[in-house]
Amino acid sequence: MLQETITRDLPLQHWQDFVVPQRWEAFTDEDHAVWDLLFARQVELLGSRVVSPFLDGIDLLRLSHPGVPELAELNAILEPRTGWRTVAVPGLVPDEIFFAMLSERIFPVGNFIRTRDQLDYLEAPDCFHDLFGHIPMLAHHDFAEMTQHVGRLGIAAIEAGEGARAARLYWHSVEFALAKEAGELKILGAGLASSFGESHFSLESDEVERLPFSVERAVNTPYRHDAFQPRYLVSESLEETVAEVLALTPEHMLAL
Ligand SMILES: [Fe+2]
Repeated sequence: MLQETITRDLPLQHWQDFVVPQRWEAFTDEDHAVWDLLFARQVELLGSRVVSPFLDGIDLLRLSHPGVPELAELNAILEPRTGWRTVAVPGLVPDEIFFAMLSERIFPVGNFIRTRDQLDYLEAPDCFHDLFGHIPMLAHHDFAEMTQHVGRLGIAAIEAGEGARAARLYWHSVEFALAKEAGELKILGAGLASSFGESHFSLESDEVERLPFSVERAVNTPYRHDAFQPRYLVSESLEETVAEVLALTPEHMLAL
């Protein structure tokens, strides 16, 4: 009886409850200058070290436009293309909210940007990580579908009390994956594409493990959220990552 009362009184949280206005007009000239600095630095650093659909996405979404992108303008291009749209959030959202958003092709974007003295700040994802890192690949039809599927798997995993499995899958596919393209090792994940230090490190360091990607390995491989990864999963191609993740059912994920 008590539990029933508690359950009834506690409002269920929906992803919509976490959405805030982007308030683009509140970004200062300095904020826009920091975006421009990060953008120019990262595009030059990546060169051709990232899978080519990422660079196509940058062009298609006009991310090279100066200043912090306005989400409404970005959505006007992204949504008709793949059905994804961005919403502003004040910071990290709980995993169940994040996965619920992904399952509806909604991507949360921090409504703030790091300061000039924290250009390589790693901990809380800001709008540079969220927009530069993630949005280009959400303009790619197959990767867009895969990301939605990861959201659905995340919801199923949390309902089964196994949220960590989906978190690891997400981490090793969407955030920190490497993939070959025409035989060359490339960056695929957003956490690498948007990181000044880790983009090169992931490809070139001799001090890390690079293991073949499989969904079984992704679901079971721990990760670091406070430091560079000690190991990266590498697929034979972007298409292989997408196909493997899309073929994964909630039941199979829970049994791996
Ligand atoms: Fe991210």
